[in-house]
Amino acid sequence: MAISFNMPPSVAFLAGQFTADDIIKKTTRCGDLSGVFHDRAAWQTIPPDTPVYEVEMLSSPQGEGELFVGTTHLQPGRVGDEFYMTRGHFHQRREQGEVYFGLRGSGLLLLQNEARKPWLEKVFPGSVHVIPGFTAHRLINTGSDVLSALAVWPSTAGHDYAALERGFALRVLDREGKIFAKEVQNG
Ligand code: F6R
Ligand code: MN
Repeated sequence: MAISFNMPPSVAFLAGQFTADDIIKKTTRCGDLSGVFHDRAAWQTIPPDTPVYEVEMLSSPQGEGELFVGTTHLQPGRVGDEFYMTRGHFHQRREQGEVYFGLRGSGLLLLQNEARKPWLEKVFPGSVHVIPGFTAHRLINTGSDVLSALAVWPSTAGHDYAALERGFALRVLDREGKIFAKEVQNG
């Protein structure tokens, strides 16, 4: 039998870009993030079509036991005094975790359990983040370059954004050039 040496998809670790036959891309723009940033007036001054982050994903089979692989590229920037960030979510299947790997740029991973207890991990090239089940997660770009992070998660996890309608219990702000994490009651 002739054994073939198949070429798998690849990722350029420094930039997080995939090479593969089928890549799915989704851009989230400032206008899509209504209610996410605390300074609504500042959010309204930004053109709604301004890209904030792009997720590129390998096209993978879906179903119990299958895995998704995707990279998030989060632009540097601020809405008022708040750093650009992803919307953030729990998984619909709460027990399902995820692993993030920092590839480029610098930022924070905001995590929060179901009792609203938040914590932060620094994201940098080479950082590894094991996100447990039952834990909401959001990337925050506190640097001046694009923040890229590779993620692997169960294809059955799903996204639950609605459970975070009150927002996260921490906001990460730029206070005169310093990164400042502020605890808040209602997002
Ligand atoms: C998948 C995952 C990431 C995020 C991406 C965008 O479970 O955690 O691929 O989906 O960083 O963030 P959200 O989905 O919060 O807009
Ligand atoms: Mn996730």
